[in-house]
Amino acid sequence: MNAIATPGIGHNGGPKIVDGQTIKPQPGPQTAFLSSAADIVIYGGGAGGGKTWGLLMEPMRHISNSGFGAVFFRRSTVQIRNEGGLWDESAVLYPQVGGEPKEHTLSWSFPSGASVSFAHLEHDKTRFNWQGSQIPLICFDELTHFSAVQFWYMVSRNRSMCGVRPYIRATCNPDADSWVAELIAWWIDQDTGLPIPERSGVIRYFVRVGEDLRWADRADDLACYTMLNDAGEQVPIPPKSLTFIPAKLTDNKALMAADPGYMASLLALPLVERERLLGGNWKIRPAAGLYFQRSWCQVVDAVPAGTIFCRGYDLGATQRTAENPDPDATSGTKIGRMPSGRYSLIVDPAPDTPRSSVRCLLPENPHRMFAMEPRDRNELIEHLALTRPIACPVSRADRLDQFFPRCHAHLPHRSLPTVAGSILDEATACHSGAKRVRQCELSP
Ligand SMILES: Nc1ncnc2c1ncn2[C@@H]1O[C@H](COP(=O)(O)OP(=O)(O)OP(=O)(O)O)[C@@H](O)[C@H]1O
Ligand SMILES: [Mg+2]
Repeated sequence: MNAIATPGIGHNGGPKIVDGQTIKPQPGPQTAFLSSAADIVIYGGGAGGGKTWGLLMEPMRHISNSGFGAVFFRRSTVQIRNEGGLWDESAVLYPQVGGEPKEHTLSWSFPSGASVSFAHLEHDKTRFNWQGSQIPLICFDELTHFSAVQFWYMVSRNRSMCGVRPYIRATCNPDADSWVAELIAWWIDQDTGLPIPERSGVIRYFVRVGEDLRWADRADDLACYTMLNDAGEQVPIPPKSLTFIPAKLTDNKALMAADPGYMASLLALPLVERERLLGGNWKIRPAAGLYFQRSWCQVVDAVPAGTIFCRGYDLGATQRTAENPDPDATSGTKIGRMPSGRYSLIVDPAPDTPRSSVRCLLPENPHRMFAMEPRDRNELIEHLALTRPIACPVSRADRLDQFFPRCHAHLPHRSLPTVAGSILDEATACHSGAKRVRQCELSP
């Protein structure tokens, strides 16, 4: 029998991947992941930490067991087949240990008869495709993409007749809004969102009581939760064990060596994504104060001489009507670049301005906005309307992600102290999930 804790391929000098290279986990979290004796292990953290590779190595320790089968789930088949996805990665590993691919069923069979297959769980109801099946090892790649309903249903399919104690392994990137964040809360510092190092890989036990999970450090401490057995006696509910192991890019020396530029790619991410995918932060989400900090901005009384202005418009105004009691406003943003290279920002909100009256907001010097000077104001309006979708990033989140880092870099000066407070308050409160954002559209 192959027990979970038995060292497998890599630990014991397993098969060669190419001459002189052994398939084995890297020291650190990947080894901890492949060594854990917990029923459920969640290996979650920054991008490129070696999580999926660790997951793919897991079944390899059982491939000489003829009755063994593992199923890997991703939410969709497309995700399994994506370039560099699970199927591609499995094709690097499994042929080295005698695996024969069956591409039409996305599965591998091994000489003993053991199998590893890949499947999707696209919709909640897809889980019923697995009714009646028994799977000794269930692997979820990107667990946060699945619903809790799907996960717990598949836990009920996790059973074994082949001598391998049934178990579940899962990987994911951090997601503060996911049910997984709640499940692993004990392993995460709830103030910083970062994993607590000394809790990494520590096994805890739980039983389900109604909709709740009751947790304990030792299985015996849950003996008070009982159920009726076949003989009508109250017996303790058998607990399940679970642990969380965090990963980050720097744990994956193989990737760091093969692609040293990947760290720079993660560093270039906008703040929230960077904190999740590089920092491994489980609490961060778009929030007020993360995009724009008041301290970046200095309020001045007068704009320095030599400032060159241009102006952009959000032509979003709609009429207030009975059906539209909360109309959108048109606003113009005037941006000045000072001789020092810093920016002055003047936002003129024009609430309730109908689109047809945009003319009155046109700049004094339209030729400063575009190389081509429009023949008349209507033409400029058309030009603005046509140019806007091309000139601006598509989503609000993308606009904010591009705009606020530039604010930070160039220390914008707000030149009208009378309205500075409200503008700064709004910018500070701004985040990509905010209902309304006064957008500043930067014209060339
Ligand atoms: N033990 C190992 N031996 C050799 N190469 C490894 C090992 N572990 C990881 N790698 C290499 O690192 C690459 C990235 O690892 P992996 O895809 O597992 O990261 P990940 O944590 O799943 O990333 P993401 O968060 O983006 O899903 C792999 O494609 C593989 O080439
Ligand atoms: Mg992965």
